[in-house]
Amino acid sequence: MDSTEVNKGMAAILIAGIVFFLTGWLSVNLIHDTKPEHEVLKIEGAAATAEASAAAPAKSEELPAIGSLMAKADPAAGEGLVKKLCVSCHTVAEGGKAGVGPNLYGVVGGARGHMEGFNYSAAVKGKAGNWSYDDLNAWLAKPTAFAPGTRMAFGGIKSVEQRADVIAYLRGLSHNPIALP
Ligand code: HEC
Repeated sequence: MDSTEVNKGMAAILIAGIVFFLTGWLSVNLIHDTKPEHEVLKIEGAAATAEASAAAPAKSEELPAIGSLMAKADPAAGEGLVKKLCVSCHTVAEGGKAGVGPNLYGVVGGARGHMEGFNYSAAVKGKAGNWSYDDLNAWLAKPTAFAPGTRMAFGGIKSVEQRADVIAYLRGLSHNPIALP
């Protein structure tokens, strides 16, 4: 074996190493990067498909449970979910502008259509009562089931724990959060 062959051999090993490293890196990073996007897409598109399959039986057992879950809900996890799922349409800061949807500051315990000047659908604005924990639980599970005809184009959050986390975070968007259930 002369030295060029040794060099070729070394180069081959090096290239193999680089390729191996790159594929590993790419797959880790690509999978990692696309995951949130994928989930958002799934949730938005899931409205119709989920209806037919899993949602119906799961819902009746999930929905009543929010009261007891609020005590151990995690507002920080809720904030992460809201940043991922909601801020494309909603601002959360006090006095924040409306986007596609209304600003959400003070919505927990607030009136339906609580943001001054936002053009709500009759489905939301016309619904009796205020935004209680149970209402928000049902709304976030499936907006179109809670208020048929709503303009909130969001499929819903399947996990009741995640809904509790989101509601716990929304509750904190207030100078004077309402009492836990
Ligand atoms: C695609 C845009 C969009 C996304 C995503 C979205 N919303 Fe909405 N949301 C709206 C619109 C539009 C309305 C007004 C609905 C109506 O008037 O029918 C609304 C209304 C609401 C209301 C009622 C507000 C009030 O003042 O009565 C709440 C609460 C709410 N959204 C929470 C959320 C949360 C929490 C998320 C994330 C988990 C979310 N929304 C995701 C568009 C969106």
